Amino acid sequence: MITWGISANSHDAALAVFEYKRKGLGPNHSLELKFASHSERFSGIKNDAHLNKELIDYASQWGEPDEIIWYEKPFVKTLRQFRAGQGWNYRENDIKRYLKGYSITAPIKYTSHHHSHAAAGYYTSPFSDATVVCIDSIGEFEALTVWEGKGNKLKKIYSQGYPHSIGLWYSAMTQRVGLEPNEDEYILMGMAAYGDPSRLFMDVLNDFIDKEGIGYNPKIKLNHNLHRGCRWWRPDLTTEQDMFDIAAATQKVYEYILCNTLVWAGRNSPSKNLVLMGGCALNCSANSTAYRFYDNVWIMPNPGDAGSAIGCVLAHKKKHMSMDHVYTGYNIEGEYPVEELVNELNTTGIAGVANGRAEFGPRAFGNRSLLADPRGSDIKDRVNDIKQRQRFRPFAPVILSEHYDKHFDGRANEYMQFTSTCKHPDLYPAIVHADGTSRVQVVPKDGSGIRALLERWFELTGCPMLLNTSLNIKGKPMVNNLTDAKEFAIMYNVKVFTGKQ
Ligand SMILES: [Fe+2]
Repeated sequence: MITWGISANSHDAALAVFEYKRKGLGPNHSLELKFASHSERFSGIKNDAHLNKELIDYASQWGEPDEIIWYEKPFVKTLRQFRAGQGWNYRENDIKRYLKGYSITAPIKYTSHHHSHAAAGYYTSPFSDATVVCIDSIGEFEALTVWEGKGNKLKKIYSQGYPHSIGLWYSAMTQRVGLEPNEDEYILMGMAAYGDPSRLFMDVLNDFIDKEGIGYNPKIKLNHNLHRGCRWWRPDLTTEQDMFDIAAATQKVYEYILCNTLVWAGRNSPSKNLVLMGGCALNCSANSTAYRFYDNVWIMPNPGDAGSAIGCVLAHKKKHMSMDHVYTGYNIEGEYPVEELVNELNTTGIAGVANGRAEFGPRAFGNRSLLADPRGSDIKDRVNDIKQRQRFRPFAPVILSEHYDKHFDGRANEYMQFTSTCKHPDLYPAIVHADGTSRVQVVPKDGSGIRALLERWFELTGCPMLLNTSLNIKGKPMVNNLTDAKEFAIMYNVKVFTGKQ
């Protein structure tokens, strides 16, 4: 049986294909993830909210779907939109009609928005028991939920409802500093390192968060409904340094609320394992604080709404599955071009790679990456020029796991979800942030292409790491296929290696 999980019709659509098979004569079934991708990779439209024919045709190579699981409950969402003064839009949320527009007519089942988040995290985690915390802007009505996972069951133990949403507030502050809400939150997080958090911490806390809710609990009460942002807040703050200070205070207030939530969750659910999910789980600076309260932490590598294409299916099937990589997207066949990449990196310092199956999630881990030699003082500016990003923004390193301790301090994993302190910032200035931290991708002996490349790079240069950023043209999604790779190479005059086809 082929099951499709779909998250779409809102922002950053995604589709996952599962094969669900009976094992033997008993009631046991196996569930195998065959494919998962963001819609944007096939349409070329960044954060594309909708499905497209190319994506559906590609997903159909595993067979037509026998059932569809949708990642949220459209009627409840419509109710919330109505209550928020957005009118009665059920026609827009009529998913049967929406999918029929793409010739998808299989029966549809629905899972609630936060249940999809919780399931995406819990059932892909290595834990048989866990406390699951989901924080995002908004689901149907929920903005923060806490769950207890045990065996194959997920039980909700706390729910925070709209409009009191810490995710919505973080997006509003993103807009307040002049960035794009629901898109540039990670830039606000990066800006925080350049600001003084103490200057505006109390102002931000007092102006936005109701004091009654503050304490060791997840109850957030906002003083304002922030659905339309907060551009009106403190018009006297206008300089660039003001923006950095707002960012620093916002980040600190978010961390403070996250810590309060985790303390409460720890007291009310006995597990030492934490699963953190929802769009806010992309905040790697704050994520590191979770280790203060939990022995083990798992964040599914695509914790936002796109990851719910996987989560809604797991919620419905109540099945654990191991997620030891995220290479589940479009396939560029051919051998990983290790030698070509090493030669180019040695000669020019920068090379692109597009090979194998594309990553599912917002980050590139070596199959759709722009790589660079992290040594030397000019490399950050050179790569920033290609990516056309703000110059203050650092890049992430990818390192062989056995060399991690020599170069970094702190918890890190394969998915750049936490921040570590770099021990030698002078040697690797391109991959260290203003506060001395790095967002590290650690590569174990997993047989991946990036592992083979790093081993060869280390053998030749003695350097165990590379700079790794996603391979995408400014304003466009990550490179997906050979045509995209060629377009990138021509536009930026950077060689992109795709392996021998
Ligand atoms: Fe969400």
